[in-house]
Amino acid sequence: MLARKNLLDIKNYEPGKPIEEVERELGIKEVIKLASNENPLGPSPKAVAAIRAALKNLNRYPDANSFYLKKRLAAERFELEPSNFVMGNGSDELITIALKAFLNEGEEVIIADTTFLIYNIASQIANARITVVPMRDFKYDLKAMASRISDKTKLIFIANPDNPTGTYCGEEEVAAFMKQVPQSAIVFFDEAYYEFGRQKSDFPETLKYLKGGNVIISRTFSKAYGLSGIRVGYAMASSTLASFMEKVREPFNVNLLAQAAALAALDDEGFLKKTLSNTQRGKDFLYREFGKLGLDYVPSATNFILVNIKKPSKEIFNRMLSEGVIVRGMEAWGLNTFIRVTIGTEKENKKFINILKKIIGSK
Ligand SMILES: Cc1ncc(COP(=O)(O)O)c(C=O)c1O
Repeated sequence: MLARKNLLDIKNYEPGKPIEEVERELGIKEVIKLASNENPLGPSPKAVAAIRAALKNLNRYPDANSFYLKKRLAAERFELEPSNFVMGNGSDELITIALKAFLNEGEEVIIADTTFLIYNIASQIANARITVVPMRDFKYDLKAMASRISDKTKLIFIANPDNPTGTYCGEEEVAAFMKQVPQSAIVFFDEAYYEFGRQKSDFPETLKYLKGGNVIISRTFSKAYGLSGIRVGYAMASSTLASFMEKVREPFNVNLLAQAAALAALDDEGFLKKTLSNTQRGKDFLYREFGKLGLDYVPSATNFILVNIKKPSKEIFNRMLSEGVIVRGMEAWGLNTFIRVTIGTEKENKKFINILKKIIGSK
């Protein structure tokens, strides 16, 4: 066996087919994708304009330090300097960067059981010892997680809000948890859905924990700003932690167009507002419709909803696909009768519900 032993148990990521291929195979147009928590309104228009303007510079390498982007991000956040930021090729990459920078042989990570799968996969690749803590009613059980911290614990991953459940940990729970975390462990708050989560009045402002020196917060342009395809996210941490992350980061990990796009997106408040109101309207509509259909769902602080269809999710996925709607089946998380649906446009949400009604109504 040529591969490293810790790779043997890792399943390869199974990407879905491109939309164009699904349309060709089914012979239909306008397949809608509600599977990856993307922004259904398209990319931020200001970001698109900035990408067009930056195209002429593609003969140059990107700025390895994302100078302007870090400066702009720091300017928005009181008390932070550019040296508190680490940019990633999507916030995904920051998870890998943190493991590379901080995990020694034999050290442990703590993760929850119904959460973003990359924590587990990236930790296996890093050869970490992994402690998995079950959730309670689809919510992170921070008390249980704190009780599992040992002197071997190096990283604790917390998706807040969480994917795929859509739940979040509030201010008080997070504060109580942070009191129990020793200086020897780093808490990684993954805030990919921050812009949606902060609509809740008790959503925690985790920036205040950065000065403790053992916290990393990651955020992304993929979701609220509609820039999944160009790959840009960032971490905030003490300048000491950030400087170690910088040591293991590939210098040109964030490409030139992505930097230009992210910078412009930060000025696109109109787009962000539209996104948030479309998401809220879509959630209200879907909650109502799920209620009418007698389906249990998990109230969400994100741009997607986890819902129990009470039929094998593989079957629901395939039947929806054949009607031109792509959702996410939840078998990979062991939730065999659940699907996760991303909030779409009003038209997309209606189409999804109409097809769901048809499927549920039939045997
Ligand atoms: C909880 C969570 N974290 C991180 C990511 C990664 O996002 P990106 O790499 O596009 O920034 C996702 C994407 O779905 C996510 O759901």
